[in-house]
Amino acid sequence: MSTPVHAQDAALASADLLTDFDHLEPHIGADGTPLAYYEALRDAAAESGHYVHWCERYDGFWAVFGYEEYTEITRHPERFSNTEPTFPRYALGEPLMIAGQDDPEHRFARALVNSSFGPHGVQVYEPMLRENVNLLIDGIIADGAVDIAQLIARPIPAILTALLMGLPAELGPKFMAWCRAISEGHILDPEGSKPLIEEMYAYFDDTIARRKQDGGADILSTVINAEVDGRRFTHRELRGFCTLLMLGGIDNTKNLVGTLLWRLAWDIDLRTRLLRDRALIPRAIQECLRYYSPAFTARLLLEDTSVGGVTMKAGQMLLLCNPIANRDRRAFDHPDSFILDRPPNRHVGLGLGVHRCLGAHLVALEARVIVEELLDRLPHFRLDPARPSRWWPGFVSGMGNVPVLFEPQAPRRDVRGNAGVETWLASARALPA
Ligand code: HEM
Repeated sequence: MSTPVHAQDAALASADLLTDFDHLEPHIGADGTPLAYYEALRDAAAESGHYVHWCERYDGFWAVFGYEEYTEITRHPERFSNTEPTFPRYALGEPLMIAGQDDPEHRFARALVNSSFGPHGVQVYEPMLRENVNLLIDGIIADGAVDIAQLIARPIPAILTALLMGLPAELGPKFMAWCRAISEGHILDPEGSKPLIEEMYAYFDDTIARRKQDGGADILSTVINAEVDGRRFTHRELRGFCTLLMLGGIDNTKNLVGTLLWRLAWDIDLRTRLLRDRALIPRAIQECLRYYSPAFTARLLLEDTSVGGVTMKAGQMLLLCNPIANRDRRAFDHPDSFILDRPPNRHVGLGLGVHRCLGAHLVALEARVIVEELLDRLPHFRLDPARPSRWWPGFVSGMGNVPVLFEPQAPRRDVRGNAGVETWLASARALPA
């Protein structure tokens, strides 16, 4: 068991902690993460005797801090609708496919795509993932100092998402710009984000038309041809599916992997155990999903109801706080410690119930391949003391900058001229530090 690295901060003792709760701008503690904030919220909720609280920000919402209450809500999709799956709402002109649907549409859509995302369905991507991770490592390995979140954790999910749609790896930076326009554009720059979102829809329309005509071995082509009870996805649904793949697949995974690599850069005990026994890597990924859950989840209440001793009204919004429910003392022993051997690890980092993450097997595969290859090729990377790591807050959050140092080595392959690698390295290096 590793000792918690965050200590209670006096600023977190505020009487208004619960009503003032802000998931988009959390207090960042001395360890560089919002964990102390999450733990203070959990403790304040436990002390108050209620794990569901009304919060004032963003025109008001119910924050669900407790694991039991989370479980109860996700068991009742007929009362707690997924038609508002993000909070505040993302800047999308159209409803979000699957994640933003209730039954019967949700059941039909999941049935069409489920097998492509099952453990066998995703296995086919392992060789190309390994290839791309190694190409990126070849691109940075001679440097000796890089931001590993920007140059490894950020590109890989975007490259994989491009490959899932049968598109070239160098399209990844474009995906990142579109994701940002959707998830932050409505807050930061509503007018500026519109052309980017239109560009994205036009690109997806064109891709779908080409796949329909020429076919392909990618997930998009499989889903275009999939049929349940004689019904297929319409063009509009396919376009929504592409948007969802991009939103669901990139932001969450880059945050999870960025945070795990940050942890591996300083937690020598954890790194040594994984170096000695690679079979422990999947457990480290699951514990990271619990301990540093990147995603929050939202619901729209369809009827007046009570949960956790509080009464809520139809039309109100709920924010399911995955990282906080995952630290509920009623559900986890020693919730504030990162425990590799936690048996069993029933975290809600990937959600629960009928809307549980469609990409669960894909995430596990991506994170495992990245950690395996990095531990093989750069086993002793460590945090750069001159450049601090930085947490990127948001509805989806995690370590977005992790500058590390390592012994420079000669690359296995010369990747100069490789469009995928060069586009990525240029785009990551162009970002502000
Ligand atoms: C670390 C990575 C990831 C995390 C933490 C994560 C987290 C989550 C969570 C918490 C939910 C539940 C949402 C809800 O209850 O409303 C969810 C749903 C979903 N995720 Fe993920 N996700 C990750 C990666 C992915 C990937 C790689 C994909 C696809 C390529 C994906 C696609 C989806 C989809 C489609 C849903 C909606 C499922 C449904 O409504 O039936 N996710 N994810």
